[in-house]
Amino acid sequence: MGRTMRTPIIAGNWKLNNTISEAVELTSELKDLVEESTDIEIVVAPPFTALDAVGKVIKDSNIALAAQDVYWEDSGAYTGEVSVPMLKDVGCKYVIVGHSERRQFFSETNDSVNLKVKAVLSHGIHPILCVGEQLEDREAGRTEAVIKEHVTGGVANLSGDELLSCVIAYEPVWAIGTGKTATPEQAQEVHKYIRNLLKAIYSNEIASQVRIQYGGSVKPDNAAKLMAQSDVDGALVGGASLQAESFALIVKNAI
Ligand code: PGA
Repeated sequence: MGRTMRTPIIAGNWKLNNTISEAVELTSELKDLVEESTDIEIVVAPPFTALDAVGKVIKDSNIALAAQDVYWEDSGAYTGEVSVPMLKDVGCKYVIVGHSERRQFFSETNDSVNLKVKAVLSHGIHPILCVGEQLEDREAGRTEAVIKEHVTGGVANLSGDELLSCVIAYEPVWAIGTGKTATPEQAQEVHKYIRNLLKAIYSNEIASQVRIQYGGSVKPDNAAKLMAQSDVDGALVGGASLQAESFALIVKNAI
């Protein structure tokens, strides 16, 4: 089974950027620029404070809403946290889970990532599970070992159907925000490795349907080559998603 059965998905991770009014402006511009892009899924992940306002702008459009993180309990005494039912209530279809910045700065582990993935799935929405090696892992030849831990840890105890509800994002940490993109060949190599891992845990049929995004300095001028790789099914875009024009160009160059 080839890539044709997997709808490409381009998601913009805005990280810690944009007030409500800035978010609304960016989203309105984007909506106009991508309104004719079909056969591709377009997702934006604003900060929590702008989810409601952005959700209203993209209502009935071809853009879906994502959150950047979540807590795994539904409610309770967890000051500062936001739950899956709350994200569902505000209109999120996706939640980014286990982004390398969460792992690096907020003590996220494969176990906490797995709890979050399971919580997101239990409410019928979709995790975007981020995995990726650091520069020193790559230099020490540990890329596959780290990816294996992140993937098997992140999807631990998921059924095949649950896995099919997930998107996986391969984001080499050394390529995030650095302007150093993985070459299309480097990306393909790891994407294929991830798909083979899933094949071994689940089945060829299931693994061949899972979408695997690439993330790390994706820009309008490198998106097409990355997306042309047979196991690259989309992009998770940070910096270049903060401008409507560059994000829309990535969407256009991706198909
Ligand atoms: P970047 O970020 O595109 O700015 O490198 C990607 C990400 O962290 O998702």
